[in-house]
Amino acid sequence: MAVMTVELGERSYPIYVGAGLLQQPELLRRHIRASEVMLVTNEVVAPLYLERVVSALPEYDLSIATLPDGERQKNSEQLNKLYDEMLEKPCSRQTTVIALGGGVVGDIAGFAAASYQRGIDCIQIPTTLLAQVDSAVGGKTAINHPRGKNMIGAFHQPRCVIADTDTLATLNQRELSAGFAEVVKYAVIGDVEFFSWLEQHVDDIVSGVPDTMEEVILASCRHKARFVAGDERETRERALLNLGHTFGHAIESIAGYGQWLHGEAVAVGIVMAADMSRQLGWMSSEEVRRIGELLTRAHLPISLGGGFSTDTFLRQMMMDKKVMNGRIQLVLPETIGRARLVMDYPDQVLRDVLESYCSG
Ligand SMILES: NC(=O)c1ccc[n+]([C@@H]2O[C@H](COP(=O)([O-])OP(=O)(O)OC[C@H]3O[C@@H](n4cnc5c(N)ncnc54)[C@H](O)[C@@H]3O)[C@@H](O)[C@H]2O)c1
Repeated sequence: MAVMTVELGERSYPIYVGAGLLQQPELLRRHIRASEVMLVTNEVVAPLYLERVVSALPEYDLSIATLPDGERQKNSEQLNKLYDEMLEKPCSRQTTVIALGGGVVGDIAGFAAASYQRGIDCIQIPTTLLAQVDSAVGGKTAINHPRGKNMIGAFHQPRCVIADTDTLATLNQRELSAGFAEVVKYAVIGDVEFFSWLEQHVDDIVSGVPDTMEEVILASCRHKARFVAGDERETRERALLNLGHTFGHAIESIAGYGQWLHGEAVAVGIVMAADMSRQLGWMSSEEVRRIGELLTRAHLPISLGGGFSTDTFLRQMMMDKKVMNGRIQLVLPETIGRARLVMDYPDQVLRDVLESYCSG
C-alpha cells in the first residue's frame, strides 16, 4: 500500500492506494470520529463491495443509502432523498458519510456531507478508475442541474480517500477507458515524461493490469494533490485541471446526462483544446496527433460524431463556471506538459474549432 497526503493545513488528509484495502478495517475506522455512519453507495456497487465495508464496522451505528445508478441520478431529487434518510435516522453533526462508488456517488454523497447541518465528515472510497485518479481527491462535490453540469456544489475535503485497486477488476472496458482520459489530462497540463510513460503503458492500463493500475493512480493522485494543495478553491492554477472540461461539460449537457461518459466527453474536449492551441500557433500538429493517438489507443473518442451545432455548443459553453465578464476562459495546452488559462483568444478561432468538430 502507498500513502500520500493532500497538504491543506488542518484539513490535510491521506490518500491510501493499493490492493486489498477494503480488507483492512483499521484504515477506515481510524478516520471515523463518532459511532454514527451513513454509508452511501449505489445499486451496482452495493452487491459487489458493500459487505466488505459493512463488515469493517460491526460496532458502529450504521445506516445505508443505496442510490440508483448513473449520471442522470446526480440530481436534486436524489440529493433530497438522501437528506430525508439522514434526517429520519437522524444523523447528527458527528455522523461520518462514507461514499462507496464512482464519481457520481462520491459527488452526491460529498455534497450531502458538505451541506448537511452546515457540513459533516466524509470519507471517500472510490471504486472506478476515474474516481480513484481524480474525483475522490480534492474536495469538489456537486450535483447537476438540467441547465448545466455540476452547477450546484461545494468545496468539502474528505477525511481520507481509500482507493482499493482490487475494485477495478469488476469495471468494464468502457469505464476504465473513461478514467484514462483524466489521467491524460494530468500529463498534458503538467508532465511530458508522464505522457511518454502513458504512451508506453496505455494498453496495460485500459486492460487493468494490477501493478500498472497502482502506479498510474499514484502518479495521478500526486498531480491532483499538488494542484489542490496550491489552490484549494480553484482561484488560480487548479483551474488547469479543467483541461478539456469546458468542451466536455457542454458535450455531456447537450447530449443528455449519461449518453456520453464523463471521461469520453473529456477526451474529445482535450483534443478540441489541443486543436485550438494548434490554430493559435502554439502546439505542433505532431503533438496534437500524439494526444489523439494516445486517446484512440485507449478506445476513447476524439470526435463528436454528429448531433451538435456550433451555436448550441457555444451557448452551453457560456454556462461554464469559468466564464468571466461574459467571456469563456479556456484551458489550452501550449505544448505537451504545459497549459494555461486563456481569455484573450480570437472568438473566430473558437468558432472555427467548434464548427469543424460539430460538422464531423
Ligand atoms: N469531484 C470532482 O472533482 C470530479 C472530477 C471528475 C469527475 N467528476 C464526476 O465524476 C462522475 C463520473 O465518475 P465515474 O466515471 O466514476 O462514473 P460513475 O460513478 O457513474 O461510475 C461509472 C459506472 O461504474 C459503476 N461502478 C462503480 N464502481 C464499480 C466497480 N468497482 N465495478 C463495476 N462497476 C462499478 C457505476 O455504478 C457506474 O455504472 C461525473 O459525474 C463527473 O462529473 C467529479
